[in-house]
Amino acid sequence: MRHLLNIESLDAAEIKQILARAAEMKHLRGPHPEAPLAGECWALLFSKSSTRTRISFEAGIRELGGQPIFLAANEIQLGRGEPISDTARVLSRMVQGAVIRTYAQGDVEQFASLSGIRTINALTDLEHPCQILSDLFTIIEKRGSLDGLTVTFIGDGDCNVARSWIWAAAKLGFALRLAAPAKFQPPAELVRRAGGDIVVTDDVLGASAGADVLYTDVWVSMGKEEETAFRLAQFGGYQINQAAVAAAGGTPLVMHCLPAYRGKEITSEVFEANAGTIFDQAENRLHTQKAILTLLAP
Ligand code: CP
Ligand code: NVA
Repeated sequence: MRHLLNIESLDAAEIKQILARAAEMKHLRGPHPEAPLAGECWALLFSKSSTRTRISFEAGIRELGGQPIFLAANEIQLGRGEPISDTARVLSRMVQGAVIRTYAQGDVEQFASLSGIRTINALTDLEHPCQILSDLFTIIEKRGSLDGLTVTFIGDGDCNVARSWIWAAAKLGFALRLAAPAKFQPPAELVRRAGGDIVVTDDVLGASAGADVLYTDVWVSMGKEEETAFRLAQFGGYQINQAAVAAAGGTPLVMHCLPAYRGKEITSEVFEANAGTIFDQAENRLHTQKAILTLLAP
């Protein structure tokens, strides 16, 4: 593996290798004794806000012996119109890897191909692979395995997080249910192309019935702020609440990638009752990304 651009292009063996390495990183914790990124600088090129992804990559790169350089897109010439293609070719002369959070998936792919340096997708409009790899690790940590599990995603079924779930389910063979309003369901063509055991519905309680994991994400993703009023009207009810938990059978893992908006995609009550899981999930970003950073071939 040279880059981590999406889950769509990973195979099951690569995903399992990342998950196994994440367990090693979590067990090891803290500064890595072999400093596998010693002598390396990694650019973190972010066009969107971030708490977890930014901090876990900055801390993780340091713990692996490397040096992160955070670059807010609007503070470099990229923000004034310099093309990503030129940015890629400049950075490739100066740093050994890049972690990119932006809008267009094509920009991350173009950066990877033109720079040639190791490139990690830290969220685009199409996928959030580091999040879902970390979430898979969290589920295995808490339930032992993904085999035979049903994951139910409630909310914006066509967002980056939902799409990465679709690819993860298709590659690893667990069941995925997506409960989303009709206008926010993933394209049928995408679900067909992914294959696997994936059901898309507008029925929250039906999708939650018997679920092992209930998962949600914000109703208004970054970049969609202009649609806020329309989205709030559409998404009412597409929420993890007591009724969804009860439908799942009472003891599902309740997960949220964060940031969370209480009273919108999850109730405050259900969030706080599951805060242990949700913040373990956030912590596991660090361990999983350290795994990815050490698995990409220089
Ligand atoms: N879940 C996640 O990616 O959080 P940030 O936007 O804070 O990085
Ligand atoms: N779907 C959300 C994920 C945030 C981590 C967004 O893109 O804003």
